[in-house]
Amino acid sequence: PIQVKKVCCIGAGYVGGPTCAVIALKCPQIQVTIVDLNQARIDAWNSPDFELPIYEPGLADVVKATRGKNLFFSSDVDRGIQEADLIFVSVNTPTKKSGVGAGFGADLHYVESATRRIAAVASSSKIVVEKSTVPCRTAESMRTILEANCKPGCRFDILSNPEFLAEGTAISDLFNPDRVLIGSLQTQEGKDACAALASVYANWVPKERILTVGLWSSELSKLAANAMLAQRISSINALSAICEATGANIDEVAHAVGYDSRVGPKFLRASVGFGGSCFQKDILNLVYLSESLHLPEVAAYWRQVVELNEYQKRRFSKIVVDALFNTITGKHIAVLGFAFKADTGDTRESPAISLIRDFLAERAYITVYDPKVEEAQIWMDLSEACPHLTLDQIKRQVTIVHSALEACKSKEAIVIATEWKEFREIDWQTVYNNMTKPAFVFDGRLLVDADKLRRIGFKVKVIGRGEVL
Ligand code: NAI
Repeated sequence: PIQVKKVCCIGAGYVGGPTCAVIALKCPQIQVTIVDLNQARIDAWNSPDFELPIYEPGLADVVKATRGKNLFFSSDVDRGIQEADLIFVSVNTPTKKSGVGAGFGADLHYVESATRRIAAVASSSKIVVEKSTVPCRTAESMRTILEANCKPGCRFDILSNPEFLAEGTAISDLFNPDRVLIGSLQTQEGKDACAALASVYANWVPKERILTVGLWSSELSKLAANAMLAQRISSINALSAICEATGANIDEVAHAVGYDSRVGPKFLRASVGFGGSCFQKDILNLVYLSESLHLPEVAAYWRQVVELNEYQKRRFSKIVVDALFNTITGKHIAVLGFAFKADTGDTRESPAISLIRDFLAERAYITVYDPKVEEAQIWMDLSEACPHLTLDQIKRQVTIVHSALEACKSKEAIVIATEWKEFREIDWQTVYNNMTKPAFVFDGRLLVDADKLRRIGFKVKVIGRGEVL
């Protein structure tokens, strides 16, 4: 097979950074360069004290072991492209905000400009790997652009290699993936390129977990996997509403259902709703794809997964307002957690943002604490979520603090928005003593021991539990 010696990754984000750092660790014979247009991000990856731009358990150790040896971070995109034999395109593909397909389709202009840059500066043959999550048949557009612009003697082979890592567990997911998926054209050249990438992964991934399929199947499998994962969450969240109305307990229901080996126990945890940059975006992509293929019933089916998630977030805000005697105007509420899930600093589509937006609309005072999210990020997210408020107005209602205890002090209610482990270990007696009474806890993540808290004196409301306060 073709020997890959130099890898370049375009896009030093949540996917490009960890994936290619792990390739560098597992393949000391390969030189890996991760490039990005964002100089600040590259500087952070290169920071002397390993203050990396993203937080992932175990990531700093991987970077410490490889940076400056066979792993490099650079803003010189062109040089990265020129030197590599294999290039990952791992740029962002957000939902389009305007134009055709606004609100559903993927904004592919970052993928396209990275592809055009490859075509413009490459002076030798390259294997180009689509790592970003893209709508089905994007590889075809990339191939057309590359072929229309390549220099004599240069050939481009295109592969699809979607990433299945989950934020918060990225490093262990990459070390031990359930599967690696590689899609290629079924031509001899396509299969050779596929074998070259497979041999990179074979340095640490067992061969039977490296699946090779056609390009379009590969692209669609990524959207399908995220759609089905999100669908499980929306299914259990839909059931959590029934639990609350009937007195059933969603934990018990999930446990009983998950025991069925055809269903399985994972990813059945009810919550205030899913967040993250991928689930909603990828389902909306699938919806858009279905519609453009004239499959409206299929589109409506998947759209409902996103709608149920919006409903769940709204529903949780309403639970808070209802329990606090139907008004939170002027009340002080602590929001614990701002990241979209535990063990990440990522806030994209975080349910905490929707909750705080709703609370601000009710003119409550909010104090936020998250162990990993930067203050500036919180202000940016809230400004974006509340376009009718100025940042000054937001800051009059929102305070950011540096510990859970501080956040809860003198508040009337605590809302748990992220399942950070440290929130389970809070000294609840001290928290209770320092709160305004009656003291409420709203657990949007099935995190606390509700009975224990009730014994202390709290009024506790847990998602998916029918009990009265
Ligand atoms: P990100 O936004 O963290 O990183 C993308 C990076 O690409 C940014 O730093 C940006 O500056 C850079 N970039 C954009 N255009 C560029 C260009 N033309 N040249 C050089 N750099 C450029 O995004 P993230 O989260 O890493 O996602 C990347 C892709 O991976 C997306 O398609 C996403 O759907 C997919 N994905 C994300 C997962 C996640 O957990 N975040 C998991 C699996 C897939």
